[in-house]
Amino acid sequence: MSLELDLGELAADIAREAGALARRRRQEGVNLAATKSTLADIVTDADREVEALIRARLRAERPGDGFLGEESGAEAGETDVTWVVDPIDGTVNYAYGIPAYNVSIAAVRGSADPTTWEALAGAVFAPALDELFTAVRGRGAWLGSARLAVTTDSAAGALLGTGFGYDPATHDGDLATVRRVMTMARDLRRMGAAALDLAYVAAGRLDGYFERGLSPWDFAAGALLVSEAGGKFSRLDVDSARPMVIAGGADVHDRLRTLVNDMAAVTGT
Ligand code: IPD
Ligand code: CA
Repeated sequence: MSLELDLGELAADIAREAGALARRRRQEGVNLAATKSTLADIVTDADREVEALIRARLRAERPGDGFLGEESGAEAGETDVTWVVDPIDGTVNYAYGIPAYNVSIAAVRGSADPTTWEALAGAVFAPALDELFTAVRGRGAWLGSARLAVTTDSAAGALLGTGFGYDPATHDGDLATVRRVMTMARDLRRMGAAALDLAYVAAGRLDGYFERGLSPWDFAAGALLVSEAGGKFSRLDVDSARPMVIAGGADVHDRLRTLVNDMAAVTGT
């Protein structure tokens, strides 16, 4: 078996196990552990426990690999593989009891830098929905055993997803972007979990997705899902504090990118 397939199998196994733990902890009741960048940016005990499980499992199976996790940070490895992990993406949903949360695990070649890494395998598991999205470089994207493909026809307008950062100071700029992209939309969804948004683009449940200010663990697995499902994923303004992520079928992706780019030129945001 190829390295990519091995990594994909491991990512999927661990995502399932970690997701089961997150779900169990959710049923027992959520404990807020801390707030992070702003009051709205929360971390629960489960985020930390689930990341610890993922990290321990990876260390046991592939001790030389590097790691980057939202809750426990980065560690360089001795191999050229780095794991990029969000133990619970959609933590606010998780805390409120909304089922749209997931475990996101990606294996990339290179360091934990999205401008240079090459994604090799990824798994996004939504335990409350029992949906496992997987992708392996060159081998497609899957929901369980069903192969995924992005949409190619959005003649009636594109169904778009987006998200807003936790910092209230960024809301005006994000809403101005929404106003602008609505010209190509049939409607907009704000689900609250970036990795699921990207998985839904891969699955054809959304025609496109855009969001400013994501962190590498939010999109590492989801970006591979989109490209392996025949779509395009790109980032704009990667040197700024809040780069823009854009995903969709080629046509929707390109139109979104043009709209967002034009806006940046007009407003400087
Ligand atoms: C967040 C979610 C949300 C997105 C935020 C992310 P977290 O991740 O993906 O949808 O809008 O930008 O930070 O904090 O729940 O892991
Ligand atoms: Ca998270």
